Amino acid sequence: MRAVLADLVSFLLYFPLLSASLLFRGTKRDAPYEQVNDHPGWSHQNEDKDEPDKYFHESSFSEHYDGRFATAPLIYEDRQSHLTALLRTYMSSMRDIGAETWIMHGTLLGWYWSRTILPWDGDLDVMISEKSLYHLASFYNMSMHHFSLPGAPNEPRVRHNYMLEVNPHYKNSSVESVNKIDARWIDTETGLFIDVTTLRRNKTAQALGEEDAMMVKDRHHYYHDDIFPLRSTTFEGVPVNIPFAYAEILIEEYGEEALSDVHFLNHRFDIEKQEWRALRYAELVRYREHGAMLGSTFWGKAADSESYFPD
Ligand SMILES: *[C@@H]1O[C@H](CO)[C@@H](O)[C@H](O)[C@H]1NC(C)=O
Ligand SMILES: *[C@@H]1O[C@H](CO)[C@@H](O)[C@H](O)[C@H]1NC(C)=O
Ligand SMILES: *[C@@H]1O[C@H](CO)[C@@H](O)[C@H](O)[C@H]1NC(C)=O
Repeated sequence: MRAVLADLVSFLLYFPLLSASLLFRGTKRDAPYEQVNDHPGWSHQNEDKDEPDKYFHESSFSEHYDGRFATAPLIYEDRQSHLTALLRTYMSSMRDIGAETWIMHGTLLGWYWSRTILPWDGDLDVMISEKSLYHLASFYNMSMHHFSLPGAPNEPRVRHNYMLEVNPHYKNSSVESVNKIDARWIDTETGLFIDVTTLRRNKTAQALGEEDAMMVKDRHHYYHDDIFPLRSTTFEGVPVNIPFAYAEILIEEYGEEALSDVHFLNHRFDIEKQEWRALRYAELVRYREHGAMLGSTFWGKAADSESYFPD
């Protein structure tokens, strides 16, 4: 018993965030949007009148926020901590639910370099298996997930509520622009969200005999063995999965230099500390000939600078 307790205590110490979810998580419940929204009466959602079939909308001030919950973009420093919490709570909840999900694109590149979100990346990319998507659609649409997270130093823990919303077009696997996002994990306080896309079988290719061809509605395509078996690792301090052939996938998407070049925009990778760091002005001048650049986040204050990784 004592050993079990000691294990539990060390687990709780090691994963303060996960333990928060284990200890403080409330029950999941269906949440009609009107009950979830703390601010009835205003909406900053872009109505996308030119795209009547589009299900998920973004805020009128930025494509990275849900305007039902957000009034304005966060400043750079605040955004980073909310993105980290978004990622951790998503991973923890998917693990509880038993959904098969993994990180991709710019988020996977961050894992490759530093096991953290890249400081210049404004969004998070995750993928889910088709079977898991159907499971979420059947049982977890509009479910609320409650977490008690550490606040500022010496401040009490803060309650955060996240909503999982599934696109009613999720069964339609045709490539399209307006409903390529199958589900969203939304921070109901800040409006920040994670877009969830689904890896599906490419039925056209399979009919032609390419048994392991896979596709995503956003036009990315993979072979089954590029992704599976998933590898277990950690990212932002919590367990996550990554695709099996992560290096090949990253090289195909970003080029070989993305895995070796220690300069990106105004950042330089500190090999000793294993982290990306924004350069100070004098350093920037020194490293400019190696490819460092003055980016919009240089002063660290730019509100919601766009992700440098296009979809
Ligand atoms: C999820 O719930 C919302 C709100 O009720 C609804 O509009 C949407 O169609 C639902 N999605 C699915 C996959 O049923
Ligand atoms: C699936 O999506 C495509 C592209 O938007 C659309 O043309 C088609 O009508 C949809 N199919 C169904 C059954 O809704
Ligand atoms: C599915 O496979 C067909 C045939 O190989 C290909 O033309 C098509 O682009 C693929 N679709 C996607 C979304 O990758």
